[in-house]
Amino acid sequence: MRDIAEFDVSAELLDWYDRHARQMPWRIGPADRAAGVVPDAYRVWLSEVMLQQTTVAAVRDYFVRFTTRWPTVDALAAAKDEDVMAEWAGLGYYARARNLLKCARVVANENAGRFPDTYDALLELPGIGPYTAAAIAAIAFNQPETVLDGNVERVMARLFDIHDPLPGSKPILKEKAASLTPTRRPGDYAQAVMDLGATICTPKSPACGICPLRAPCLARAVGTQAELPKKTPKKPKPVRHGHIYIARREDGALVLERRPDKGLLGGMLGWPGSEWSDAPIPCPPFDADWTALQGEVRHTFTHFHLVLRVWTASLPNGINLDGLIVLDKHDFRPKDLPTVMRKAHDLWRGR
Ligand code: ADE
Repeated sequence: MRDIAEFDVSAELLDWYDRHARQMPWRIGPADRAAGVVPDAYRVWLSEVMLQQTTVAAVRDYFVRFTTRWPTVDALAAAKDEDVMAEWAGLGYYARARNLLKCARVVANENAGRFPDTYDALLELPGIGPYTAAAIAAIAFNQPETVLDGNVERVMARLFDIHDPLPGSKPILKEKAASLTPTRRPGDYAQAVMDLGATICTPKSPACGICPLRAPCLARAVGTQAELPKKTPKKPKPVRHGHIYIARREDGALVLERRPDKGLLGGMLGWPGSEWSDAPIPCPPFDADWTALQGEVRHTFTHFHLVLRVWTASLPNGINLDGLIVLDKHDFRPKDLPTVMRKAHDLWRGR
């Protein structure tokens, strides 16, 4: 049996990272870091919040748009809620965007625009959990914190050949990851493990032949790497149904609503509609000649699948629509809607 302690895992990985680090708009690469370039904690924080539950590819353009429009935490803290929610539209998990703003305002107003530099102090901020606190402390402030995301879990499960299934195995994987976290270059190291998981130690066909950790890897020694990490099977998601209503005035204006801050798609713009349940009762937001579109909208959230029936109507110009938002056709941008609402728009427009 190999003993991983005999290998200098972090040195091997840092050496690999020096040659193969991915470029990302928020990343200070290893050469720049070595030359003394210091990461901007605002950009590290923003990227890590965006990357929760999302891929690097999906986040890139959002990150560039956000930092162009709001280059500092003070600028973001001063932004209007609805502008931030509109820029976030399509990234999903909208509670993250609401917490993002809360956090920016705490940092700007109570901390003079500076992010705290320790794990414990970061954890106190809105929307910052153990993963994000560790990632910011390591990447922005070069603290030897252990960052555990899906990529790191996979790397550790294979390196130590751990067969206990996720999510129950998280504490063991965290302990193993912590045992390898170096005090030298911990910020680069945190990103190196994530890059290894994303590019070499991939879920389906890991590229063990070119892996810098192939010598110490216990799963590779016994051929179990492709089976790991094991996962406890998830319960199938229930299906919920709903009705939504797209009304257009003669002048082209559209009728929307802002969803309540609490709950799914909280704070986002959307079409008015029914509750989402097993058998929702149609509930048009006002009287009109509603007709149902052919087809339906399907969208999957974390805990359920949603199937929506889409109704449309034309309205005269003068009608009174209390409590709803009537958006002039020039002010309406489908990209400001969360994905499920944009799907309904696209069905209506025949896209
Ligand atoms: N995934 C989440 N954060 C990341 C980072 N900083 N580098 C690479 N992959 C990541």
